[in-house]
Amino acid sequence: MRKKTIHAGRAKARHLSPDELNSIFIRVASPILQTEKMDQTRNHIQHGRVSCYSHCVAVSYYSLKYANRLGIRCNRESLVRGALLHDYFLYDWHEKHEPHGLHGFTHPGTALANALSDYDLDRIEKNIIARHMFPLTLVPPRYRESLLVCMVDKVCSFAEVFGWDAYPSFVYANGGAVLC
Ligand SMILES: [Fe+2]
Ligand SMILES: [Fe+2]
Repeated sequence: MRKKTIHAGRAKARHLSPDELNSIFIRVASPILQTEKMDQTRNHIQHGRVSCYSHCVAVSYYSLKYANRLGIRCNRESLVRGALLHDYFLYDWHEKHEPHGLHGFTHPGTALANALSDYDLDRIEKNIIARHMFPLTLVPPRYRESLLVCMVDKVCSFAEVFGWDAYPSFVYANGGAVLC
């Protein structure tokens, strides 16, 4: 799916209501979440009992939520899209017999290549995907959006490893489009 327009500049850090946040998330995320490839990631476990799909929904939604809460000026659309696609590697990394290499080091590059084959990405979205495993991968995030996703990804991963029901129901709801 190709975007029709180039992203505008960074959004001003006007505080948004929960309804406004949910509206942005649903509008930007739904076209990606409704694709067959994303749907297949429901079958891939990411951490604990959380699927790769739910993980990406959680990282994307909480990145948007905390950017708003902390008043971070950012491009919200790029933040949501980049975070949704940050683990778009499209395989089950627990299958050791598959030639995935050292997953922790290689999957940002795999995810970026997959995302570029399916979407037109702006520079922020590319950087979010490519740098989200910092500091395991040595090059740091370049933009505030990528740094935020890098940190939220780690918090979500920690929550998933130590408590599979740590998320509110929207993460587990069909399509990620039912927000509480
Ligand atoms: Fe990742
Ligand atoms: Fe992740």
